Amino acid sequence: MLPAYIPNPVAALLGGGTPIDLKKNFSDGNRIFGDGKTWRGLITGILAGIITGLILIWLAGLFPPASLPKHTLLSVTLLAIGALLGDLVKSFFKRRFKKERGAKWPIADQYDLVAGAFLLLLIGDPAWLFATVTLPAFLFILIITPVLHRATNIIGYIFKVKEVPW
Ligand code: CTP
Ligand code: MG
Repeated sequence: MLPAYIPNPVAALLGGGTPIDLKKNFSDGNRIFGDGKTWRGLITGILAGIITGLILIWLAGLFPPASLPKHTLLSVTLLAIGALLGDLVKSFFKRRFKKERGAKWPIADQYDLVAGAFLLLLIGDPAWLFATVTLPAFLFILIITPVLHRATNIIGYIFKVKEVPW
């Protein structure tokens, strides 16, 4: 899951500048995505996720026959892009529900990246998804993701990378 987990913190660290929605409003008068979703965050986050995946593929090659699931360029790319697309779609709906940038939205804030990453895998490489993400693995991901999410956001808040600890 690292190629899906890395993009968010990297976007928080390196993001900023031009917002993806170019400051445009939706038909309801609120921002499409808001200032928290920027091109730089999207691109650096996705690249960082893919690079993380490439390192995992390289590491797996050093330990044959590793018992860990095998990544491919496609699987890591879909995980990285899906994670931040999920985050973007979540922000779209957050704005529709009139939630300010950075407002808390339990469940959606924690699972947007998992939903986005798995949905993209389902479309782009379903064979890999079903062969690799077994039911126990999926349940483990559902349990560990909110824990990791909270922990990284508290760290980000302490180091002043994030404005709120969620
Ligand atoms: N970020 C970015 N580009 C992205 C995603 C995130 O630049 N595509 C950066 C922004 O600086 C953002 C920070 O990472 O403020 C934290 O991300 P997140 O918590 O997802 O955004 P929020 O500011 O909470 O905005 P929203 O309410 O839309 O979730
Ligand atoms: Mg947020």
